[in-house]
Amino acid sequence: MPLSAELEVTLEMVKRYNRPGPRYTSYPTVPTWKEGEFSEDYATCLHEEGQNDQPISLYVHIPFCRQLCTFCGCNKFITNKQEIVERYLTSLDHEISGVAERLGSPKKLAEVHFGGGTPTFLNPHQIEMVVEMIVSRFDVQNDGEWAFEADPRVTTMKQLEVLFELGFRRVSFGVQDLDPAIQRAINRNQTVEQSWKTLETARLLGYKSINLDLVYGLPLQTHHGFRKTLEEVNKMRPDRLAVYSFAYLPGMFKTHQRAIREKDLPTPEEKIQIYLEAISFFAEVGYVMIGMDHYALPEDELAIALKNRTLHRNFMGYTTLHNMVQIGAGVSAISDFGDSYWQNPKDLDLYMEETSDNKLIPRRKMCLDKEDQLRRKVIETLMCHGEISIPDFESRYQIDFRNHFEQAWTKLEQFAEEGLVSLSSQKIDLTPVGMLFTRNIAMPFDRYLEEGGSLQFSKTI
Ligand SMILES: C[S@@+](CC[C@H](N)C(=O)[O-])C[C@H]1O[C@@H](n2cnc3c(N)ncnc32)[C@H](O)[C@@H]1O
Ligand code: SF4
Repeated sequence: MPLSAELEVTLEMVKRYNRPGPRYTSYPTVPTWKEGEFSEDYATCLHEEGQNDQPISLYVHIPFCRQLCTFCGCNKFITNKQEIVERYLTSLDHEISGVAERLGSPKKLAEVHFGGGTPTFLNPHQIEMVVEMIVSRFDVQNDGEWAFEADPRVTTMKQLEVLFELGFRRVSFGVQDLDPAIQRAINRNQTVEQSWKTLETARLLGYKSINLDLVYGLPLQTHHGFRKTLEEVNKMRPDRLAVYSFAYLPGMFKTHQRAIREKDLPTPEEKIQIYLEAISFFAEVGYVMIGMDHYALPEDELAIALKNRTLHRNFMGYTTLHNMVQIGAGVSAISDFGDSYWQNPKDLDLYMEETSDNKLIPRRKMCLDKEDQLRRKVIETLMCHGEISIPDFESRYQIDFRNHFEQAWTKLEQFAEEGLVSLSSQKIDLTPVGMLFTRNIAMPFDRYLEEGGSLQFSKTI
């Protein structure tokens, strides 16, 4: 029996496809990257990249949070010690200076994103310090996109004002779920008033784009209950919404996700009902679904990019920007440029100990060969547009698509029998049901998944 009136999705499908799989914010995915010390290689590649005129997109990771949410899968560090924060900012300064030095004479800076953890853990003075580290070393573009993530529980009007004055115009607030029982189950008590107040303050100050994050699949959630959160959130009418699938990885986040009782988690059937509830609700109230887990108002740039087929995907999810040198600064931050990926150490102490005298210290590296680049493009196209034009790929990469992806094609034929894709010699087209399983449909194109059987990913649904 279908689980949804509009979509032919059945419980059998959910059971079959709900298995660990990547979210493909990068391909190849991080666990396949080489581990080691790559200071010299990274410096050389940055120097080479600096010879081009491509603008920079800078991601800065602020790992600190006041309190631990037990569902959290981010790289965060819970503290109230200012000495640690000061030390971290010194390391960050060294790293940003080191990157700018290797790239050469001030490069154009088109995008800045403060992520976390919780960037608004920093006080206004510390926020100004981080911005100064950036603007003193790059050629800041007037029409640049400056964005930050914030937790409404710790974000003050003063911080929002300072960030606005410094040029930030986009903000993303974590909400997750508004039900107090669910909040208790994830150790995140955040009143509806807190969420409203922060959002309204940001709006009054003039922020042009406000995003809210929700999570489905959290302990005690039901689709009936989640509808209430959706209704309240719709009254807030953010420009964008992310509705993430709860990545439950107690093996990886031993210290805190184990505090979540497995018996409190919704069954896979209930979890997909919650997801379907969100999809139909947002369609009803006029949001456009962008890829798997994002929604936007029709006039938002993401919705326009989807329509114009100019949508892209990177470490932060869906984006309208591309062709930039993506630099990540801070603990665990990722850089992506010139067909290579780099990641800083995930351990805060190690990051702070080793980043000194402008030294750069990536601990993971991946250089993409031609085959990786082709597969990355296939996966990104599927995730962003839900379809592949076979002649386009054949002429661009000089391949016979079906022969080249023989094994993947066999899998696609199975998906076609189940109504997830429609296949022809010209096109791979995800059906509306197939869109729910985009991660599964992308997986046959991932040549590392088989080798890395033990790799840790969250379930796809
Ligand atoms: C860095 S946090 C956002 C800012 C701030 N720390 C907060 O929580 O309000 C980024 C977002 O990742 C999502 N997230 C965190 N852990 C997750 C998990 N295990 N599964 C799915 N989404 C998760 C949440 O929606 C969260 O708002
Ligand atoms: S969800 Fe946000 S506030 Fe909570 S621990 Fe994770 S990063 Fe920190």
